Amino acid sequence: MPTITYEGPDQLARDGATYLAERISAAPGPRVSVGLAGGSTPAAVYRQLRQHDLNWERVDFWLSDERWVPWNHSESNGNMAYANLIAAVSARFLRPRWAPWLEPDESAAHYDAELRSLHPRDHAPDLVLLGMGDDGHTASLFPDTKALQVQGRWFVGNEVRSLKTWRLTATIPFLHRANQLVFLISGASKAEMVARVANGDDLPTTRVANGPAPTTFLIDRAAAAKL
Ligand code: 6PG
Repeated sequence: MPTITYEGPDQLARDGATYLAERISAAPGPRVSVGLAGGSTPAAVYRQLRQHDLNWERVDFWLSDERWVPWNHSESNGNMAYANLIAAVSARFLRPRWAPWLEPDESAAHYDAELRSLHPRDHAPDLVLLGMGDDGHTASLFPDTKALQVQGRWFVGNEVRSLKTWRLTATIPFLHRANQLVFLISGASKAEMVARVANGDDLPTTRVANGPAPTTFLIDRAAAAKL
């Protein structure tokens, strides 16, 4: 499990952002496709990343997952990414649609088509950022949910009964197409799951990390405590 361990969340944010900035800059080709993680951990990383002087005009940001809420909702991953990164840089940002008359998988199917247009001629995502929940989920691929089994789609609606909600998520086959996957994981609450992923336990994070996409875990010492 390729891992870089930082002293704490502040160093993870600062030095992790530098790690990401270097990979965005080094990406070949005229445009760079970057999938953004949701949740709370990435916010501090994004605030550091936006300070880097990159050629942002060539970057296409999109979301590795989204909650089924309006764009301006406090729980929206897109809203978090916009507030902490996108609003400060001149990159493009592709977000899944939300409307009260839309079903989650209708929106996911439309986003799937948009992502395929963004990655023509089998162009792979250059970099996809992910987090990990206390239950070992990543993106919105939660344990025992249907999205874990989906083939043939890049993005799907996923009913998460444990949260009594719907999510939109990248699928495992799509994440496995990436040129690089980077997990951002912080805090003692993740230590047990980090150790289980390192042990190869069958968790959504393990299934994503152990595929063909080169994967690196950027974690802090608290999350690494049981390695
Ligand atoms: C989401 C995420 C999810 C997140 C993990 C970790 O929509 O919540 O994309 O996969 O990355 O739950 O979240 P924290 O960083 O808040 O611990």
